[in-house]
Amino acid sequence: MENANADESRPVLSAAHGEGFDSESLAGRSVANLFFEDSTRTRVSFSLAAQRLGAHVVDLTGKGSSLSKGETLLDTAWTIEAMGVDALVVRAGQSGACQLIADHVKIPVINAGDGTHQHPTQALTDALAIGRSFSLTADWDFSGLRVAIVGDVVSSRVARSNLGLLNALGANVVVVGPPMMAPDSMATLGCSVAHDLDEVIGQVDVIMMLRIQFERGGGAVLASERSYHHAYGLTKERANRLKDHAIVMHPGPMNRGVEIAGEVADDWRRSGKGRSVILDQVAGSVLVRQAVLEQAINPKA
Ligand code: CP
Repeated sequence: MENANADESRPVLSAAHGEGFDSESLAGRSVANLFFEDSTRTRVSFSLAAQRLGAHVVDLTGKGSSLSKGETLLDTAWTIEAMGVDALVVRAGQSGACQLIADHVKIPVINAGDGTHQHPTQALTDALAIGRSFSLTADWDFSGLRVAIVGDVVSSRVARSNLGLLNALGANVVVVGPPMMAPDSMATLGCSVAHDLDEVIGQVDVIMMLRIQFERGGGAVLASERSYHHAYGLTKERANRLKDHAIVMHPGPMNRGVEIAGEVADDWRRSGKGRSVILDQVAGSVLVRQAVLEQAINPKA
């Protein structure tokens, strides 16, 4: 059944998904998703990526597991490893949890986001979206690009992973937010720091908006969500002051009306008129995670 209201420009992964991948490269293998913190994008895309390579997937979340009875992360990881899975994909609320598990098991562990520390496959996904948007996927030289990462940067594992990767690819990165969310000390990560979005908005090629991470105390000093939107939100008026070719990104989940206006988020670049590549980021994430799983489990595939 077709939906007459469907927006044809809204990005979805094309039917040619997985082109270049062998759909049997992980046949007979199994991947365990250990998601001890909530997720939509990362968990589903890792599951789809594994399935599209022919692997079996088992899913474990914190709530339905024996973690709720006091079992430790390591005991949980050892238990799943003992059942003969080929890789663990781990999302955890504690920074360093994935490395801790990786140090104590014999199978590959893929970090699907740990606390405020790192989210490496999100950064790879974001680089793919940027590379495709500016036709840079031949040499991955981002040295002509200025990227703004805006919002609750200090709480963001996505920002930390993006800073590492974007710097490696040669981009010039500025983080922007109120001092509590974008402290000047973040400059030690290889970026500049700004506190006035309006000074920066017209100078960047990529603007990556971040959610306020209320669950990590990110909004503790906010006067109100409305005043934050006024000072740091990507409103339609601000988006109109971006360079003509600039793209709008968000790793999700979004808080519409807080860090980004809904009309900006939904102004798809694929329509030919808009800037938003937010769903392109999601679509590319399955391909990125296919590549990561293949490399981790069967690098010769
Ligand atoms: N970007 C991201 O990690 O989203 P999820 O928390 O939904 O996985």
